[in-house]
Amino acid sequence: MHDFSISQDQSPDILYQDLISAARALTDGEPDAIANMANVSALIWQYVPDLNWAGFYRLLGDELVLGPFQGKSACIRIAMGKGVCGAAAATNQVQRVADVHSFPGHIACDADSRSELVVPVCKDGKVIAVLDLDSPLPDRFSVEDETGMTNLIAAVSNNLG
Ligand code: SME
Repeated sequence: MHDFSISQDQSPDILYQDLISAARALTDGEPDAIANMANVSALIWQYVPDLNWAGFYRLLGDELVLGPFQGKSACIRIAMGKGVCGAAAATNQVQRVADVHSFPGHIACDADSRSELVVPVCKDGKVIAVLDLDSPLPDRFSVEDETGMTNLIAAVSNNLG
């Protein structure tokens, strides 16, 4: 058990600095990608407010397969290009969706989800996974969240695959 004493009542810049330090501390020197994804999803779940799902899908062959996560049980396989996760993986672009109901092909794993942020995880220039965050609040994810989560993933991606 790790207690990083990260306060949620602070600016996004400071929150993400703290999260990135904690994610580095959790993953440094650990080569097992599944263990690292499990700890990073638990870290985000503990310290980032207003989420109903936080976790990873890994790119295995030509589809995304459910990886370590926190939240309700979820769909296991997502084809490249399908849903928000498949779009992020196929384009290698962050998907920040204010209203999932207006995203064509959104896959509703949890009916409570209203907004979503999906960040591709790259290693050696290739997408190997995506980080998927869902919120029950509409328009939950800001530009600061997009930048912060992108930096967090970049900081630990060498240990996620
Ligand atoms: N909503 C995602 C599917 C994964 S669940 O949200 C956990 C999508 O449209 O790709």
